[in-house]
Amino acid sequence: MGKINYRKFIRAMRENGADGALTIGDYADDGVAYLWLPIPFLPPVYFLLKPEDVHELLVKYGDQAEKMELVARVARSTFGNGILFSNGARWKRQRKLMQPVFHHMHIKAYGERMVAIAEDHIAHWNANSTLDLAHEMHNITLRIVVDTLFSSDVTGAMGEIRQAIEDVGAGFAAQASSPILALMPDWFPIPALRQKRRGAKTFNEVLQSLITERRTLGEANSPQDLLSALMYSKDAETGEMMDAEQLRNELLTLYVAGHETTAWLLSWSLAFLAQNPQAAEKLCAELESLAGKSPSIDDLARLPYSKMVLQETLRMRPPVWFIQRQTHEEIHINGHTYPKNASFTIIIYANHHNPDIFPEPRVFKPERWENDAEKRLPKGAYLPFATGQRICIGNGFAMMEAQLLLNLFMQRFQITLLDEPQIKKGTPIILGFDKPVRVQVTPR
Ligand code: HEM
Repeated sequence: MGKINYRKFIRAMRENGADGALTIGDYADDGVAYLWLPIPFLPPVYFLLKPEDVHELLVKYGDQAEKMELVARVARSTFGNGILFSNGARWKRQRKLMQPVFHHMHIKAYGERMVAIAEDHIAHWNANSTLDLAHEMHNITLRIVVDTLFSSDVTGAMGEIRQAIEDVGAGFAAQASSPILALMPDWFPIPALRQKRRGAKTFNEVLQSLITERRTLGEANSPQDLLSALMYSKDAETGEMMDAEQLRNELLTLYVAGHETTAWLLSWSLAFLAQNPQAAEKLCAELESLAGKSPSIDDLARLPYSKMVLQETLRMRPPVWFIQRQTHEEIHINGHTYPKNASFTIIIYANHHNPDIFPEPRVFKPERWENDAEKRLPKGAYLPFATGQRICIGNGFAMMEAQLLLNLFMQRFQITLLDEPQIKKGTPIILGFDKPVRVQVTPR
């Protein structure tokens, strides 16, 4: 087990972002490295590199491996006890409540709305217009998640909501990358926390009006969507309904988790296709079977290459590129004993760049996913949606949305990059572009 040089490691990420985190391999001995954060009394953070160790932590010890307390504390000041950062019985209850809405049969019904919203949005892409790629993708995926899960239209408030998400995200990222900021209360008068408070305030107003509107409709007249499921379902044991505070926390969590990641998956996929014309041609050839009709759920089985493009993009640019856990009991993995309260970081980006599993890991090669290759990979090697009991609840929703939209965009437009996409430096929570990437869209 090798010790990480904290300063060197942080500098590597400051300079090269997730690529800097690949230096973890230099420290790992027997596939494990550990880091002492510069905070008194805090136990070390362990980094597991071997796929089988990662799998064991997340699956075998899934019950013990909860969200890391320090990170969850920072997150809770914004997201409260929403599903993403809660633990134990509360998490189990919320997961059980939401799971049916993400069931395969349910999400199939969202397909038509997803395509209709995307079509409406790209109707504004004029011939040869220059667009900010990520900005466009975020606006579309935000509209989709709010429409499908909350039956609400945010088109009019898009700018305000996106700004609030950026403000909350910037404050959160600053705290997540600095242990000193992480320990500060949110009211502390410094710019990053002021920005976070401003974003949270806007969000509270937006969510409050969504909740009030729905309450006015009453249960009988409300649409059968996730918002109604959250609002009107009762706890099987206590018969209690979710209070306003909990409801607000879940809505905020889904607003952010439900669109930001998919927006980056689409942005990176389109960028890779623009850089790899042969792959773009292969995808477009497949689309000919639609004879100009917009893609629908029933077509997806006939469009396997677009799924491979998404799998390869998720490998090279996993939007959630690291995850963290903390165990509350002593655990044993692969000959190592980890003490009670041990913290773990899994760098998904590093797993996905392991040359023993993915030869030439920096080469964009959708073909490596041919013939259901994902099913034959060692467990713990490929984790864009994590694994174990905290696996992404929106996994199926996101893949369906991304496949429909990627096909739609590629069918209608040729996309040319005007800027070179680079990964964001530092330790962002989500792996986006370092600077805005402009594209030119030309109708096909
Ligand atoms: C490409 C798109 C997406 C990616 C890469 C992604 C990735 C992930 C990952 C890695 C986790 C686990 C985080 C951790 O263990 O700390 C997660 C959790 C979660 N995701 Fe996603 N996600 C995506 C889309 C979505 C969508 C569309 C939704 C909702 C509509 C969603 C909702 C959630 C929720 C609620 C959790 C927490 C689940 C729990 O703790 O039980 N995600 N996601």
